[in-house]
Amino acid sequence: MTTPDMEAFVRGMPKAELHVHVEGTLEPEMRLRLAERNGIELPYATAGELAASYEYQDLASFLALYFSGMDVLQTERDFYDLTYAYLQRMHGQNVVYTEMHFDPQAHTSRGIAFDTVIKGIRRAQEAAWAELEVRSQLILGILRDMSAESALETLEQSLPHKDWIVGVGLDSDEKGNPPVKFREVFDRSRAEGYRLTMHCDHLQENSVQHIRQCLDVIGVDRIDHGYHVLDDDDLIEDMRCRQVCLTFCTTSNPSNPAPRRAAELKRALELGLNVTVNTDDPAYMRSYYMNEVLQNTQQAVGLTREQVAELARNAFRSAWIGEEEREAFVGAVDGYVGGS
Ligand code: ADE
Ligand code: ZN
Repeated sequence: MTTPDMEAFVRGMPKAELHVHVEGTLEPEMRLRLAERNGIELPYATAGELAASYEYQDLASFLALYFSGMDVLQTERDFYDLTYAYLQRMHGQNVVYTEMHFDPQAHTSRGIAFDTVIKGIRRAQEAAWAELEVRSQLILGILRDMSAESALETLEQSLPHKDWIVGVGLDSDEKGNPPVKFREVFDRSRAEGYRLTMHCDHLQENSVQHIRQCLDVIGVDRIDHGYHVLDDDDLIEDMRCRQVCLTFCTTSNPSNPAPRRAAELKRALELGLNVTVNTDDPAYMRSYYMNEVLQNTQQAVGLTREQVAELARNAFRSAWIGEEEREAFVGAVDGYVGGS
């Protein structure tokens, strides 16, 4: 059971998030508001009806919902509002640092300019830093079910904004779209100075092989999800030695059963892997943000305070920030644990 003490401990702890899709934070209320502002008709009248329609069975059916939700994002102001609302919520949860994926191709393919998207997001990041002291960085998400040529074009579009982007990720439907399909674009991304991460989602074909490609062919700095590391003893050993961060997402949903994910998280921690807890697409996952996900995960498998603190330290240790800032963040966790 989560005790009130443990809930408060999680709530008060300084935290970081390394795997969230900013478009996946589009709450039903905001989706309705933006639809109205942009003259778009949605077949749902209330936020409750909209939330009730968020049913999916697997990654493909989830992605269909996720992409159709984005239709209401049209103007720079829309991207500003979306991003600021997420960062404001993080402020309320003591998440002091976050790295957010955004999916430019999902917008440019609808006729929304790359510049419109990134300028809206960036202005919100600057405002959240100035007003709330929430620090954030952006990860350019490449849609793996689109072509390698489209990925390269997107990388080109990002270059004038290089100072606003810390890394490149690979997301969307993994089936038939292995990491090696994007070798060239990730080689170029690294040469441009970007950090690299890729989704290796759950219950996908050839998961262990895909994780191997990430590590040995692409040379990623991080793996998003990556639960199937636990299926292979050699991978476990390799990941323990290399300490490549795994960004587990342990919210309960039909394609991601929570007790199983929480048990895998505990096992990964006990094996000495560099694992973190993240929210992925919280607006589509019962609006569970960092505190709810950490509290539920702690409760599901009885994580100790020290394990919960280790998850927070892992996230700050694996964040794409400078050493001074990292030390300050990890020190804040240590100070919090020592004083509570
Ligand atoms: N895009 C948004 N969320 C995703 C996820 N969990 N897996 C793959 N692509 C995504
Ligand atoms: Zn994700």
